Amino acid sequence: MKDLIARLPKAELHLHIEGSFEPELMFEIARRNKVAIPFGSVEEIRAAYRFSNLQEFLDIYYQGMNVLLTEEDFFDLTRAYLDRCAADNVTHVEIFFDPQAHTGRGVPFDVVARGILAGLEDGKRRYGITWHLIMSFLRHLSEEDGFATLAQAEPWLDRFAGIGLDSSEVGHPPMKFARLFQRCREMGLQLCCHAGEEGPPEYVAEALEIGIDRMDHGNRAMEDPRLVTEIIRRGLTLTVCPLSNTALKVIDRMERSPVKAMLEAGIAVTVNSDDPAYFGGYMNANFEAVADALALTEADIRQLARNSFTGSFLPEAEKARWVEAVDSA
Ligand code: ADE
Ligand code: ZN
Repeated sequence: MKDLIARLPKAELHLHIEGSFEPELMFEIARRNKVAIPFGSVEEIRAAYRFSNLQEFLDIYYQGMNVLLTEEDFFDLTRAYLDRCAADNVTHVEIFFDPQAHTGRGVPFDVVARGILAGLEDGKRRYGITWHLIMSFLRHLSEEDGFATLAQAEPWLDRFAGIGLDSSEVGHPPMKFARLFQRCREMGLQLCCHAGEEGPPEYVAEALEIGIDRMDHGNRAMEDPRLVTEIIRRGLTLTVCPLSNTALKVIDRMERSPVKAMLEAGIAVTVNSDDPAYFGGYMNANFEAVADALALTEADIRQLARNSFTGSFLPEAEKARWVEAVDSA
């Protein structure tokens, strides 16, 4: 199965670029920028990556990105992620970035956008990896703050495929951002939303009511058969992140991953790495972990790879070309 997973072309649809920040690069950039970090070694950093919930992770995640200051930093971060994609035969990526986590500490929006976009273009040149960039709003901040960020993003919007909603889920339901989603929809942006990771099935229902185009995680939709029916009816893609789910104790062991049950129900589920530097593995490691724990068949693995392209924001002809490539691999 490992060989099959490695051989199949795959798209990654749920990845926070700041979550691909490996400790080695963090050290290098901290030194370059003369920024102090509260860790003495790469091993010390890795030892701090033990989480009992989403918030414990987010506290460390926002702390880690504090060393990112220049366009070059964001370029290097993106470049390193695309090296990992090439190694895993990930041929298309749709990645999130968290502008408010940078502008909130004084790094200009344009510096962040320029660095990441240059990194993505560099990866396309080096490996042929195609990309979409998705600007994600932090849901622990206000909707007003989101609107201010959208205004800053205005000159860049033709280079962003869509928007997302991430960070602390419980207490910050999708409807808190109903007007912001509506405005982004009017601007022609695709709508993604983290829902049902830690938050209850009601948050999944709210995301559906808003009319999102893709749901990130969506695990807890499985608790309500009506949500499952509606997700299938709409053909909505769910971007599940197995190693993230075990690392953040969304599930207590990999055998409880919803991936197989979602496949069996007919949900367009995909496998993704979320924040691979923090959760112990990139795309293929995530596929291997669920394949092992859930005894996935070759047909399951191929379906997941097909779903990664059909659930992408690529044009239909491109999707069809990649589905064929999966079938013939
Ligand atoms: N930001 C980065 N990773 C996240 C996750 N898994 N859930 C919510 N917000 C995030
Ligand atoms: Zn995520």
